[in-house]
Order: sequence, then structure tokens, then C-alpha cells
Amino acid sequence: MAIPFIDLGIQRERIGAKIEDAVLKVIKHGAYIMGPEVKAFEADMSAFAGAKHTLSCANGTDAIELILLSLGVAKGDAVFVPAFTFVATAEVVPMTGAEPVFCDIQADTYNIDPAKLEAAIQAVQAEGRLKPAAIIAVDLFGQPADYPALSDIAKKYGLHLICDSAQGFGGTIDGRQPLEWCVATATSFYPAKPLGCYGDGGAVVTNDDALMEKMISFRVHGGATPTDAATMNYTHEAKYLNVRIGMNSRLDSIQAAVLIEKLAIFGEEIELRQTVARRYNELLGGKVISVPHVRDGYVSTWAQYTIEHESRDALQAHLRAKGVPSAVYYPIPLHQQPGYAMFTSGTGDLAVSEAKSKTVISLPFSPYLDTATQDEIVAAVLSFENQG
Ligand SMILES: Cc1ncc(COP(=O)(O)O)c(C=O)c1O
Repeated sequence: MAIPFIDLGIQRERIGAKIEDAVLKVIKHGAYIMGPEVKAFEADMSAFAGAKHTLSCANGTDAIELILLSLGVAKGDAVFVPAFTFVATAEVVPMTGAEPVFCDIQADTYNIDPAKLEAAIQAVQAEGRLKPAAIIAVDLFGQPADYPALSDIAKKYGLHLICDSAQGFGGTIDGRQPLEWCVATATSFYPAKPLGCYGDGGAVVTNDDALMEKMISFRVHGGATPTDAATMNYTHEAKYLNVRIGMNSRLDSIQAAVLIEKLAIFGEEIELRQTVARRYNELLGGKVISVPHVRDGYVSTWAQYTIEHESRDALQAHLRAKGVPSAVYYPIPLHQQPGYAMFTSGTGDLAVSEAKSKTVISLPFSPYLDTATQDEIVAAVLSFENQG
């Protein structure tokens, strides 16, 4: 059987019957949008994340945009993002009128480098065109960014610190979730994510009451919040009083029903992911250019298992010939993407991002990857190494 890049089949065998029952229940009760499953899932997410609030939404991209809009990020603001991430992290910034400022990453974790971030903030201040407003840190491949250091910088310069945990939701630093340092964490439930649904979905977790109230409004067309309504003489349904320009970004009840079942086993799956990653590291360590490095005290959710090789494209072709799928996340850093060339503020020194985009390659990964299949993948990688 062909090796899948991300195997969702074994999880389906495990909880498929429960998911089918839950989905059928939604089909029968008929509250397809914002039904009881959505509320129940939001409560489960808050409990899992140790957060006061969860706002579910249509996808992880909207989740980040909802945070920015609700914080009031707008034209004239600078939002600092890593240059090496999925495009959605930066894409949402111009949607608010603000500009992304690209920062370089740490070579060992692929996450935004606090020292380079600070240099970029100072470069923007010196340029004087934009006002530094927010930092979006990304937990790339599942490992949390260096939130303690990032939070010190955010406080020093008066910036909002936002966590894009589309790949890393559930990851921790010394047992603490990124939300302990950030105003809000965004995540994605795209099916291939560590916590994925059966379509598109996303969420924001936060402890901030005022932010939550604004996000509820932006999520559904900028409808009046209780605070808005209290100051206006309006007696009809709040959703028909549109106080701000919002969007339509609701999570379907069917997806929430799927997610309730998946979240129930997510903690256990994060543990299983550690075992699979540890075994890859043992088998490949010292034999390829680099295996992933997780810092002491950090727990990654291993959205990807990413190695590096100087002949990356040849390795990928070799793996393909051996029936082993792989993926390159990401072949072009964001500052080199044609659509983003106009955003030039910052230090311009993005050498680590540029170098990594040429060497990274991700191998098949799932919490249920069996040792025989893993051995086959490792043998294919090593056979490339050994061919000289
Ligand atoms: C780092 C990162 N941010 C944001 C997103 C956007 O999530 P979605 O695809 O659910 O919009 C993704 C998804 O691939 C991602 O990897």
C-alpha cells in the first residue's frame, strides 16, 4: 500500500463510528450553523487551552485576521511576522490596511528570532513611516516560538503579541501554553493539522473579555456587541445593527461535532507524536544534515517532521522514486514571494529564512505511524545518503 504523507485513516478507524453518530445527530437536529455542537466545542477548547474564551470560526486565516481587526490594527501600522511561514500569517495583515514587516528566524527552531525581531522594530521606528503595532509569532512545524523572550520585547515596545498556532496548537513551554504570554492564539482545523476537522475550520483562544466581544462582532458581519447596543437606541435584533465592517466566518455545527470527538483524544495523540518523532530522530540523527531540534522544556505537536539536506530536491526525487511522499514547507520565503515584494520595511537581513527554504524537506508523519512504515521511510532516506 502507498505510504500516505499524513495518514488520517487510522484515526478514523479508531473514532470513526463516534464521529459518524455525532454528524448524523447534527443532520437530524438541523441547527447547521452555530448549533449546540459549536458552543460545546468552544467550551471544550477553552478547557483544553486553559483559556477563558474560545471563538470558533471558518478557518485559521480568518482566526488571525479576526484578532488583528479586533485589536484595531489598521492602516499605518506595522505587524512583524517571520519571513519563513505559511503565507496566511502575513496575508491577513494587508487585509486590515496594515503592512507586514518580515523578520528572520532562528536556525534551530525555524521560529521568529527575538534579536532580529527587535532589530526590525528599531528599523521601522527609524524609518518613521509605520507605527509598530503587533507581532505574530508562528509555532512552525509544531514547536512553540520563544514566547518568554518575545513577550519581553512586546512589552518593551508596547506591541500586541499574537500566536499563530495553526501548526502548534497544544504545544507547551515548561508545561505552559503560548496564551500565557500572548493576547490571543489562533489555530487552524484544516484536516492535515494536528487537530483537524473534515473540512475548513479555525479558532481563537483568549483570556481578554473586550477582545472576545469585538471578535464575536467581526465574525458575523460586524453586528452590535452588548456594549455597542447599550449606547444606542435600537430595539431590533443586534445582528441587524452593523457597527463595524466584519466578515462571515462561522464554524459549521458538523465540523464542531467532528472536533469534539477529535479533541477528546488530542492529548493522547500529542504523546504518540513524541514517540514517532523520537524514533525518527534516533534513526536519522547524525546521518542527514539535520534532524529537528526541540528546545529543552518545549513540547512540539509535530505538525511536520522536517529534516534538512543540501541536495534537497534530489533527495525529494529519490524518495518519490521509492514511493515515499514528502513535502517542502516552504520553498520561497515570504519576502521573495511576488505578491509580497512591495513590503520592504525592516532590516532586510533574512539570510536564515532564505537558506532554510533551500534545504528543508518534511517526511510522512502521523501519531499512528507504525514502525515498519517508518523503517521503510528511513531506509529510503538513508539509501540516498549511501549512494554517495
Ligand atoms: C502557520 C499557518 N498559519 C495559518 C494557516 C491558515 O490556516 P487555514 O488553512 O485554516 O486558513 C496555516 C494553514 O496552513 C498555517 O500553517
